[in-house]
Amino acid sequence: MLVVNKCLVTKFSRLSCLFVHILALTVRSTYSHTLCPFVFCLQDDVEDSHRIPPSPVVHVRGLCDAVVEADLVEALNKFGNICYVMMMPFKHQALVEFDSVESAERCVACGTREAVYIAEQQAFFNFSTSQRITRPTNADDPTSGNKVLLLSIQNPLYPITTDVLYTVCNPVGNVLRIVIFKRNGIQAMSVEDAQKAKLALNGADIYAGCCTLKIEYARPNRLNVVRNDNTSRDYTKPFLLHRERGKGRQRQAILGEHPSNGYGPHCPLLPLPGNSRYRKRTEEVRAVSSSVAMVSGLHPAKMNCSRIFNLFCLYGNVEKVKFMKSVPGTALVEMGDEYAVDRAVTHLNSIKVFGKKVNVCVSKQQAVIPSQTFELADGSSSYQDFSLTRNNRFSSAQNGRNIIQPPAAVLHFYNAPPSLSQQQLHTLCTEHDVPIFTKFKVFDAKPNSKTLSGLLEFDSKTEAMEALTVLNHHQIRIPSKSSLSLDTLIKQDSL
Ligand SMILES: *[C@@H]1O[C@H](CO)[C@@H](O)[C@H](O)[C@H]1NC(C)=O
Ligand SMILES: *[C@@H]1O[C@H](CO)[C@@H](O)[C@H](O)[C@H]1NC(C)=O
Ligand SMILES: *[C@@H]1O[C@H](CO)[C@@H](O)[C@H](O)[C@H]1NC(C)=O
Repeated sequence: MLVVNKCLVTKFSRLSCLFVHILALTVRSTYSHTLCPFVFCLQDDVEDSHRIPPSPVVHVRGLCDAVVEADLVEALNKFGNICYVMMMPFKHQALVEFDSVESAERCVACGTREAVYIAEQQAFFNFSTSQRITRPTNADDPTSGNKVLLLSIQNPLYPITTDVLYTVCNPVGNVLRIVIFKRNGIQAMSVEDAQKAKLALNGADIYAGCCTLKIEYARPNRLNVVRNDNTSRDYTKPFLLHRERGKGRQRQAILGEHPSNGYGPHCPLLPLPGNSRYRKRTEEVRAVSSSVAMVSGLHPAKMNCSRIFNLFCLYGNVEKVKFMKSVPGTALVEMGDEYAVDRAVTHLNSIKVFGKKVNVCVSKQQAVIPSQTFELADGSSSYQDFSLTRNNRFSSAQNGRNIIQPPAAVLHFYNAPPSLSQQQLHTLCTEHDVPIFTKFKVFDAKPNSKTLSGLLEFDSKTEAMEALTVLNHHQIRIPSKSSLSLDTLIKQDSL
């Protein structure tokens, strides 16, 4: 039985104003019909209870905004087995079908006698006028339930793409297709083995403390995917299979952390402490991971160890970088842990840097060993140890600054000298032969602030990535105090 812990519930209530809708659907069936709008035709029971004969179905009222099915199950399963729950979120109501009239009677009687709380708010119970909740798409038999799930994501602080949902759902139930569509915010759809996925993931946070999944069965029983991108994807299409082999993809989202939450010790997002199945799965997956990433497709003349560092350090600590002599344009990057590698794979794979598409995957190697060191085209060493550099950002003291962002056209620079001007930055770009930003914004500094921060917007993500590769950690001299220089740190920004 799914248990949602109390603090999660409290969080729901607090964050309910940030509610955004996502529809995520799961499919296994082969017959097809087009995706149709989700209109839940729910019957509301309004008759007076005195006339309503006992029924195994209980009508629950007075639910808080953020309540999820798991909260109802947690609060009400003491009265008897719950067969089915139908949420009516916009009415703050739900129907709960028990396995027997007796269980329902216990629930209604208890609710009349004393306050029964669901997600810390008192709820009210009456028998429903119906004897049974009509299941969507003939999902009468739980084992043949709809394969399409509808996912709502609350408090979506981070972008939710098909890959993120895939990463979260696939370990639990083989994901076939995902469609995300915007309606009142984001909406999505995904998966297969729907019942299992629903049970394991309902109420779970994709990232710690945010992006909370609310899962219902959807009405359509088949998703129609017309193209594969970050809002819709068909994982059953053969040309996509190589994606699944990249093991890294399968863990990153469930294990991703809230930026302020600490990257040092792993803090896997397991909002359902009682859910041992979920936890076991995580361990299994961990066994096949590595804290070494392999990056290929590097520009032979322009890439070197520190430039790789500049890119990868946004997603975790970079310990060592080593170019492989036997495979030109390929390097191994040892990171702080396997989660850092997962994040790097997720965000850096397939990006373009210096006109070349870079591939990032999880390496089979478990560590980077300095052997066969040689000279790169620019004269620098093919191996560098960064474990002691202060430019690594994921020490516990600095965690608050790390917000994991996918590559974007906007860069956020900070720790720059207060005297830094737009013209100077412009010159810097020209001197280093990187694309020039199109917009520049400086954040109002606090009085006495010794550093400056702001945003640089480029024409494209690719241009921004190139500037990041080259200029991140670039030291800018402070003119008046010629001995001093400050590193300009850059990170992605989603603005
Ligand atoms: C539901 O039950 C309460 C008592 O528990 C009763 O006062 C009320 O009239 C009933 N009907 C409805 C529709 O709320
Ligand atoms: C999805 O892709 C589009 C275009 O490829 C891009 O503009 C958008 O930012 C992407 N969204 C996310 C959340 O990555
Ligand atoms: C990598 O290249 C940049 C630019 O040429 C250079 O400043 C930097 O020192 C190089 N890195 C190493 C480790 O030599």
